[in-house]
Amino acid sequence: MASPDTADTARTWPFWAPSQAEAVEAALDLAGIGPGVHLLDLGCGDGQVLLAAARRGATVSGVEADADLVAEAKEHLADAGVDADVRQGDLFDPAVDVGADVLFSYLAPATLQRLLPRILETGARLVTVDFDVPGLVPAKRSGAARLYRLPGRRRAVGRPGWPTAGTLVATVPDVQSLSCLEAAHPGGPTLVRADDGLAAVATVLSGADHLEEAGALAVDLRWEGQPAGTFAGGAIHVEGLEDHHVFVLHTDEEESVWELSADGVAGLRQALLATDRPSTVDEVLAAANR
Ligand SMILES: C[S@@+](CC[C@H](N)C(=O)[O-])C[C@H]1O[C@@H](n2cnc3c(N)ncnc32)[C@H](O)[C@@H]1O
Repeated sequence: MASPDTADTARTWPFWAPSQAEAVEAALDLAGIGPGVHLLDLGCGDGQVLLAAARRGATVSGVEADADLVAEAKEHLADAGVDADVRQGDLFDPAVDVGADVLFSYLAPATLQRLLPRILETGARLVTVDFDVPGLVPAKRSGAARLYRLPGRRRAVGRPGWPTAGTLVATVPDVQSLSCLEAAHPGGPTLVRADDGLAAVATVLSGADHLEEAGALAVDLRWEGQPAGTFAGGAIHVEGLEDHHVFVLHTDEEESVWELSADGVAGLRQALLATDRPSTVDEVLAAANR
């Protein structure tokens, strides 16, 4: 069963960013959007996807947790003369209907994995942009868009564990950003917890509290905005797996992600203890390679 903390986090993981217009059009093509098709956007933000689908003649609706975004979406759709059903609600609430012919999602993988049981009940086709559905093979891909015919084929996952000993992320300063990891879990309870060093700078959410069988487990980290030059990190504990060490540098340099060996993790753990912490990508990489 979900601990209250995890259940709460799953419902309050709103991460707002509009999907790219090109990816939206690719997703609408893959899903065969046109007259007579009902599309529902899971977390519809400002309604831009609904507008694009309505322009193709589809019936559109959206569910969105954030009241301000709901108001914005309604205004955009009304301005364009589109009759759409946009509701404020929580996608995890059983009272919120998520039935449609096509479900569109630009949600982070752990949220998507948690929603999957609800999505499967609808029998809809699912299109996602930027993110895979953890553990499933898309029926088709086009650019950043994926189409899933559900229940779909399961992706084989390797031996249980993390692909690497650690991960280093260079991300933007002062605003929220997202990193999405995936582990191969042996099945059973998957409770996730960040240690103090990581919890100080990130909120961590896994895609499940329990897996019936071995499979992919999405683990998303939402970095809370920190000043440029902030270097931090710590361990993610996931029940059933070895710890995974994640380090972050908030920087105005280009965003990037590196895989870390055990030696790299050891070097960066040392760097965290130093009085003079690294504050540029070059300095962090030098500490990892020491
Ligand atoms: C990354 S944005 C994508 C917005 C839009 N679909 C698009 O592609 O432009 C994800 C949206 O999902 C909403 N969201 C996240 N979790 C939700 C939940 N449990 N219930 C309803 N909305 C949620 C967020 O508030 C956010 O607006």
